[in-house]
Amino acid sequence: MRVINAVFAAGLLTGVVGLMASAPGVAMGQATERPWMNASLAPEERAEMVLQQMTTEEKIALLHGNGMAHAPQWQMPLTHLSNGGAGYVEGIERLGIPPLFVSDAAYGVRSSGENGKYSTALPSSLGAASSWDIEGACAYGGVIGRELRAQGFNMTLGGGVNLTREPRNGRTFEYAGEDPLLAGTMVGNLMKCEQAEHVVGDIKHYAINDQETGRNIVNAVISKRAMQESDLLAFHIGIGIANPGAVMCSYNRIDGDYACENAYTLHDVLKTQWGFKGFVLSDWGGTHSTVKASAAGLDQEQPMADFFGPALLAAVKDGKVPMSEIDDHARRVLYAEFLSGIVDHPIEKSVVDVMGGMEIAQHIEEKSIVLLKNDGGVLPLDAAKVRTVAVIGGHADVGMISGGGSAQVDPPGGNAIMPPGKGATHWQEHIWFPTSPLKALREKMPGAKVEFYSGQDLAEAAAEAKAADVAIVFAYQWESEGVDLATLSLPDNQDALIEAVAAANPRTVVVLETGTAVTMPWIGKVAGVVEAWYAGSAGHTALANVLTGEVNATGKLAMTFPKSDADLPHPVIPPLPAEDKGAGSGAVDDRAHVRSNYTVHYDEGLKVGYKWYEAERLEGRDKSPLFPFGFGLSYTTYAYSGLKIDDAAKSVSLEVRNTGSRAGAEIAQVYANLPAEAGEPFKRLAGWQRVELAPGETKTVTVAVDPRVLSVFNEKTETWSLLPGSYGILAGPSSAETPLTGTMRLR
Ligand code: BGC
Repeated sequence: MRVINAVFAAGLLTGVVGLMASAPGVAMGQATERPWMNASLAPEERAEMVLQQMTTEEKIALLHGNGMAHAPQWQMPLTHLSNGGAGYVEGIERLGIPPLFVSDAAYGVRSSGENGKYSTALPSSLGAASSWDIEGACAYGGVIGRELRAQGFNMTLGGGVNLTREPRNGRTFEYAGEDPLLAGTMVGNLMKCEQAEHVVGDIKHYAINDQETGRNIVNAVISKRAMQESDLLAFHIGIGIANPGAVMCSYNRIDGDYACENAYTLHDVLKTQWGFKGFVLSDWGGTHSTVKASAAGLDQEQPMADFFGPALLAAVKDGKVPMSEIDDHARRVLYAEFLSGIVDHPIEKSVVDVMGGMEIAQHIEEKSIVLLKNDGGVLPLDAAKVRTVAVIGGHADVGMISGGGSAQVDPPGGNAIMPPGKGATHWQEHIWFPTSPLKALREKMPGAKVEFYSGQDLAEAAAEAKAADVAIVFAYQWESEGVDLATLSLPDNQDALIEAVAAANPRTVVVLETGTAVTMPWIGKVAGVVEAWYAGSAGHTALANVLTGEVNATGKLAMTFPKSDADLPHPVIPPLPAEDKGAGSGAVDDRAHVRSNYTVHYDEGLKVGYKWYEAERLEGRDKSPLFPFGFGLSYTTYAYSGLKIDDAAKSVSLEVRNTGSRAGAEIAQVYANLPAEAGEPFKRLAGWQRVELAPGETKTVTVAVDPRVLSVFNEKTETWSLLPGSYGILAGPSSAETPLTGTMRLR
């Protein structure tokens, strides 16, 4: 403890001086004294040079956090230096290595309210994934990276890429849907561009952290082949694109061992099979041991130093942890610092670009909104014909809902449905952004009477709907880290409200503000359905643009919407044993429950989302979804033709024509069926392209198929193989509609 305290004391200085560390373009003296400051050298080389200069205590200082600013139970002597973030890691001031100022930043920078700052809320990750727009993902990451830097942070905790295996998972909104290629590509591009702003990038929560129920204790049981071909593939693709400095291991166990001391997922897969060179940090309180975790490949404990502080130093001295492991851990942290540019580009606090962030958030949301139903062309609202609009429910007069937990972004002015100025008082408060769709619609439709009714009184709502040309019901479903949804049904009697309004006016449109799929018992009775997700800081404007047709609808679902909970692989989430009640609901590891036997068997294996529904159908069980993966309508129409397959190049091309009268963007999707020997008869997404098309225009779409999405994993040899044989190729507008078919022959 004594040694560590001395290091803490040294850090008091580091925290201050680190912020003022040298800029790129190093002075001559420094170049000779500190050759690692030469930015033209490779990050690996620079890290190695620094490592050679370091004492054991300095190395260990890089391997643990120093508390969490806003968690009283997690305070340490240096917590006050953390800039109000989730974590703080000391730098080595004498060697010019800055501290890590770490903040959560899933859909925007967290804790801006408590820190007296402003952050842009982007649309939820799931929403943005529904744009299938890689440039948008990059812009998303860019906003967050710049705002982190402006606020004095140089490391993010964003980058959630867990698959939507369990759609009731309270964190579904933080992730990018159910397909490994789509999720990995979107999150990978997001994080690539975020890290390019000089923040250490992160991808999380590694791995199989697919539900919140008992998240600190649950043992997720799944075969190696299944996890490699599903959740791990999403991580592999994302990490490959982003090359993030860090990967966060998750709270849960995987086949027995905690994810933060799991030699298979950390050492064997992430670091050896994939060659990941950055560092692994534990989720907050997710470290459970010193010797085992260090050997398995955990590099940094967060947010405390219970296992990787004095205990790690003692283990080194006792010969229980070899110095080579300490060197490997420290080298990885240093590598991440050089890689991301935080050594060469010291933080300079500045004013967040509010308008710039708002504009990007609006455009991403416009592309993320999914038009699910549009009977009789009820949308777009025709300003020339629609004289009265009844806007009903969902607090649409004042704002739009957001997702909670450590992802929460604080809204300007506080929660829109609470007294002014009152911010989030609890990490699971239901926060409404002051983004009123009612006001936005009124602005877009100055000639119409657009009135709001709360929907509390069903009879009143029905009567007002009846009197209006069009009724728009706003429905919400709140989600947060730490708690799963019991069901995909809408809460708070909203199904009854929609039924009542739809019965009164056939021109009823439902706008959904949800973090995951919802069931729609009323689907046959409404004319229109629009999924707006958690829409972010400019969501109201984006939504009004799509509802009025100023912007065409282009988004397509990044996850399947089932007809009922009963159709899911797990009709109910396995309940926690009585003695474990409450586990997982906290932000942190709940050590009282560590001996729990709570287990979830992911017997559906790699059949996540659309693969599950197709596999069930092939076995004679009809669970056809309400809306399939990849589905979304537009105000124009498209036709597909001319499929061409190049076996040698593993590429597929086709033509998409805009057959309607409006400009639009179509997301053309290519799927593949593996040869029968694979034993996986359901299709896989093999690629896509989002193409802008003027009315009447035709474009050729070319998709290069990543061999990883055609390969199968052999768990005996721990290798991937691309089987020789015939691959069925299917292409079209969604996973359920693939008018073009052909064969790719691989030798
Ligand atoms: C969450 C992480 C988050 C961390 C720090 C944990 O509870 O699972 O996603 O980054 O807290 O706030």
